[in-house]
Amino acid sequence: MRLNHFLFALLFLTLAACKQKPTFSGYSIQKSTLADSAIVSTAHPLASEVGLAVLKDGGNAIDAAIAVHLALAVVYPAAGNIGGGGFLVYRSGDGQEVAALDFREKAPAKAHRDMYLDAEGNVINGKSIEGHLAAGVPGSVEGCWQMFQKYSKLKDWKRLVQPAIDLAAKGFNITQAEAVGLNEYRKGFLSNNTKACAFVKADSTQKWKAGDLLVQTELAETLQRIRDQGRDGFYGGKTADLVAAEMQRGGGWITAQDMADYHAVWRKPMLGKYRGYDLISMPPPSSGGIALFQLLGMVEPYDLGKMGFHSPEHIHLFTEAERRVYADRAKHLGDADFYGVPIANLLDSQYIQERFANFDPQKATPSKAIEGGEFTGKESKQTTHYSIVDADGNAVAITTTLNGGYGALTVVGGAGFLLNNEMDDFSAKPGVPNLYGAIGGDANAIMPGKRPLSSMTPTIVTKDGKLCMVVGTPGGTTIITSVFQVITNVIDFNMNMTDATHAKRFHSQWSPDELYLEKGAANEATRKKLRGMGHKIVEWSGIGLVESILLRKDGKLEGVADNRAEDDTVLGY
Ligand code: GLY
Repeated sequence: MRLNHFLFALLFLTLAACKQKPTFSGYSIQKSTLADSAIVSTAHPLASEVGLAVLKDGGNAIDAAIAVHLALAVVYPAAGNIGGGGFLVYRSGDGQEVAALDFREKAPAKAHRDMYLDAEGNVINGKSIEGHLAAGVPGSVEGCWQMFQKYSKLKDWKRLVQPAIDLAAKGFNITQAEAVGLNEYRKGFLSNNTKACAFVKADSTQKWKAGDLLVQTELAETLQRIRDQGRDGFYGGKTADLVAAEMQRGGGWITAQDMADYHAVWRKPMLGKYRGYDLISMPPPSSGGIALFQLLGMVEPYDLGKMGFHSPEHIHLFTEAERRVYADRAKHLGDADFYGVPIANLLDSQYIQERFANFDPQKATPSKAIEGGEFTGKESKQTTHYSIVDADGNAVAITTTLNGGYGALTVVGGAGFLLNNEMDDFSAKPGVPNLYGAIGGDANAIMPGKRPLSSMTPTIVTKDGKLCMVVGTPGGTTIITSVFQVITNVIDFNMNMTDATHAKRFHSQWSPDELYLEKGAANEATRKKLRGMGHKIVEWSGIGLVESILLRKDGKLEGVADNRAEDDTVLGY
């Protein structure tokens, strides 16, 4: 049930786009482009246009990111947000500065470990997924504000917020994929809101269709407060009061004080190496950086090129590495501000090799035979991603989320924005899978003020001190393995970024003990061989929506927007 919910949340836009021919073609969609100066790749053509305009106005990648983030909150309500959170990974053009900003949601002060359990200690189905109690304190506005304070070149906050206000106030024509999404979730919107919301038509029996104008007046007013008062326009005053009032009407726990107390945190980025390339990724509360580096460390001794792309050997090797890494994720990873995540141990090269020492090239290891690793020494994680590179080579990788498609399906009455359901990323009970089928324990137990474990993996790759790649994707637990595959597609299989991004993908995560293959990811002979090795193959229709950029050897930027979804668009100049 939950995994099915996840599958739909993750894939509805792609499936919708595949199942039905688009009838609204008012936007210019571009999946791949070459540019001399700058690239912006996002999940929606209007957001990409907003970002490009900022870059052309002399803004840097951070300025463009802020404008894109707020525009996505309007035009891509399934995942773009001001009611959610995310992570930034940044590298300055001269390489002198790398940074990671954690604007992940936080559990409200009243939250506690057993808040989603019934009297018998069983998880109450759906309580962490839909409605007021599913929401963590949002971090996105603080994230944009912090980025602006530290790195903005334009130094004109109002200029960056205004495009989102215009899109919300004047409205925009929704795409086919958006119409399908809004219609699918109509019942959820109706049952999880205390007031009428913009995502259900005034006559709630009426369905959305491609080309309809979506006007979000209350959201525009909230954005105006953010424009005029900065972070205080969201975390204080009228907006915070509207959040608190919504929570009281709906039985949620976020207070105006929780809003006031929210802070984003600049963290030390995770730095890793792979075959002479340097990687910059996200530390806890994301599992992404650690898991990505563990995966790369496990496969580095093997000649992937010689194995052949999507050969049984390639898929088997990656799946076996993923099995071990996701077991570690479940046992050891959580918010390092609250739990002693053994980062150094998990990334120790000897540990990584020892962890993979029982790899059998001929046979799958049953997941039940694998537990999270033990250490002998002491200690010395529906989403959207956008990638931007500006004319000075500054690179931004941002993954942001409401968690499930349209988050908690709850809109803050009077404020017009959707709340996240990020509380489901905590482990509600040890061993009980969340929306993404991921399990966890103490490390990711709920505590007040704690951030739930994430898989978001915004990543920048450099080579010889020069920018090489910017990569990231939505997809819950499949985020890590999608980023892993795009990076190795370029480095090991010599693909250009377009092929590396659009290539079929596969995924495995220890629990459940299954190997997910995209349609067309491997031919029948390969699948047969994998089954013979002991892998249980399950076919998926789409894994990840990667937005990526490659700085080519000829100096051109190759920007790509994943072709798995209808609307993702890359622009450059
Ligand atoms: N909500 C998905 C993630 O953070 O991994």
